[in-house]
Formats: sequence, C-alpha cells, structure tokens
Amino acid sequence: MQIAVMASGTGTILQSLIEAELPIALVIADRECAALTRAQEAQIATALVERGSFAGDFDRDAYTEQVITSLQTAGIDLVAMAGFGTILGPAIFDAFADRIINTHPSLLPDFKGWHAVDDALRAGVSETGCTVHIATALVDEGPILAQEALPIYEGETVARLHERIKEIERRLYPMVLRGLVNESKQKSEGSI
Ligand code: GRF
Repeated sequence: MQIAVMASGTGTILQSLIEAELPIALVIADRECAALTRAQEAQIATALVERGSFAGDFDRDAYTEQVITSLQTAGIDLVAMAGFGTILGPAIFDAFADRIINTHPSLLPDFKGWHAVDDALRAGVSETGCTVHIATALVDEGPILAQEALPIYEGETVARLHERIKEIERRLYPMVLRGLVNESKQKSEGSI
C-alpha cells in the first residue's frame, strides 16, 4: 500500500501522518508551502503540481489530469487529502474511486467548504468537530469513516478553535488511515 498525501498549507496534519509511520510514498502540493518542506525533511518524494492560475481561466480538468499522472507514475494506491487547496475535477474520483480520503474541520454534513471553522463559529453552534470521509466529486460529501465532536467555548477565535480541531484530526486521521492500510494488507494476504 502506497499513500500520497495532498497538502497546501502548514502541513501539521501531514506531520501527524509521517509520525504515525504510514507508508507515504509521495506528497503533492499545488503551491510552495511548509507541507513540502516537512515531506522533504522526512525524505519523502514530493511533487509540486503548481496551479497556473487562481482566476476564472483555471483549467481544472487539465490540472486534475496532471495530478492523476503524478499519482499513477508513483504507483499510489490511496490518496489522503490534508488541507489541499484546489478542488479537483471528477476524473480523479473515477481513477481512484473510493481511494481518496479527506479530513474536514467540521461535523459533516454541517459546514462544508473552505471556511468550515469560521462558519461554525458564526452560526453560534455549541459544538463542532472533525470528519474523516471518503471523498467524492461533490466537495465534502461521501461516506463518513470517523467523526469526533468538541465544545465551542465562550470567546473562542477561529484560529484557536481550528487548532483545537486539528489536535483531534492529528489523532483521528492517522488512526483511520492505519485501519485502511491494515485492512488492505489483510485482504492481500487473503485473511479477510
Ligand atoms: C485541516 O484542518 C484540514 O481538515 C483542512 O485543512 C487543515 C490542514 O491543516 N482541510 P494543516 O495545514 O495540516 O495544519
């Protein structure tokens, strides 16, 4: 089982996957970011599949094809999204059907999208959390594999709340991925 992690940001979730000693063969980023540095420091192969544009002329399907090629060239079996900032086109969800996993900082189906933490805070809900799920072409949809809630405190800021959520993600996400790796190992050994 070879995992690719896709990230665009600080890469603290990626770090938790590295520390869990998951079989990460490749880290893909869509821009220069700290996640790439973390991968390099851990001696993991990296691919910077840079977006040509962040405007309306962005060719999502062509970009997605480049990502698929990188994944296939590296012989990747499972893709773990860890804060990847580009929505990918439907082709990747055909090429890697049920093999793309995502972690999202809310209790899905509530607060989908890039501003999930901010949205939960503004909505005035008393709790939020994180969700690990199988990713599909519909953003932040797909079968839920694990979820954990946490209370929102009085006077909470987006940054503080997001950090508290990420503390959970850094425990939950490696655990779920480890389960998938073990399951696939048992299948290939014929024991399930
Ligand atoms: C995580 O909260 C993840 O759920 C979201 O992006 C964040 C990534 O955090 N999609 P980091 O860059 O790994 O610290």
